[in-house]
Amino acid sequence: MTLTEEIEQLKSEKNAVILAHYYVRPEVQQVADYIGDSFYLSKVAAGLKQKTIVFCGVSFMGESAKILSPDKRVLMPDLTADCPMAHMADAETIAEMREKYEDLAVVCYINSTSELKMHSDVCVTSANAVEIVKALPNQNIFFIPDKNLAHFVAEQAPEKHFVFHTGYCPTHEHMKCEEVKALKAAHPDAKVLAHPECSEAVRAAADYLGSTSGIIQYATKDEGQEFIICTEEGVNYELQKKNPGKRFYYPDTAPVCPDMKKNTLEKLRDALREGENEVQVSGEVRRLSRLSLEKMHELAGA
Ligand code: 13P
Ligand code: SF4
Repeated sequence: MTLTEEIEQLKSEKNAVILAHYYVRPEVQQVADYIGDSFYLSKVAAGLKQKTIVFCGVSFMGESAKILSPDKRVLMPDLTADCPMAHMADAETIAEMREKYEDLAVVCYINSTSELKMHSDVCVTSANAVEIVKALPNQNIFFIPDKNLAHFVAEQAPEKHFVFHTGYCPTHEHMKCEEVKALKAAHPDAKVLAHPECSEAVRAAADYLGSTSGIIQYATKDEGQEFIICTEEGVNYELQKKNPGKRFYYPDTAPVCPDMKKNTLEKLRDALREGENEVQVSGEVRRLSRLSLEKMHELAGA
């Protein structure tokens, strides 16, 4: 039996469902029941009938699934797959900002620990951050932890006063704008599609900025045939699948998220077979952090 067949068999034996982010390895995306961006996956996780969710992504994704579906068993192929940005803010700074500013909303990028979500008013993802910030009644926005996404949102919500944090994604930050410009010079018809986690210079060079699903949708709907992709290279699997005739170029420094790549088929099979690597979020943290996630679901598309 191949690994994939083994996983299929275990999945039905254990009444399990597999969720995978666009950044994980293609062979892992292939066995997933649901593939998507972090917003889509958090919506899916909140309404599944199966008893066990295997989340192929990073910790904040598995934790969000557990928070939204506390009665399910949430497993991850590798519990050490974590997002470094998720740890870049802290509860003390949030408390300081709440003291300092009146009429403040603490807006927490979903790429954050459950503890940070617990101290925040609302969560956002790159797919819904602009819409949610605009819908908030508050004048002052403390946006944690990602400075790049925060600036992207602030540019589109000039009516709000932003207090920025200093967090960033090391994987996206690493990408060099000169390489993006060199690719553009080599392929002048190609549009530059970038994730808002990219640096200011890369964002400025982009024709379109959006979440992973936004990038995939844009490339699929656009009549252009060539695109320069400025986000983690895992999206290439879905881009090619949806657009077999189109060409996608990646800067040499295109991000490869080492934590997302920890999700392998072998580890996925082992987690399913042994029922190990269960995500735990303690009662109080789970109860309080759920509020900011639910607020996101309420305001997104409201
Ligand atoms: P998306 O919200 O676009 O899925 O991005 C998640 C992420 O981790 C980007 O680095
Ligand atoms: Fe975190 Fe960046 Fe990896 Fe996304 S790509 S999970 S933000 S480290």
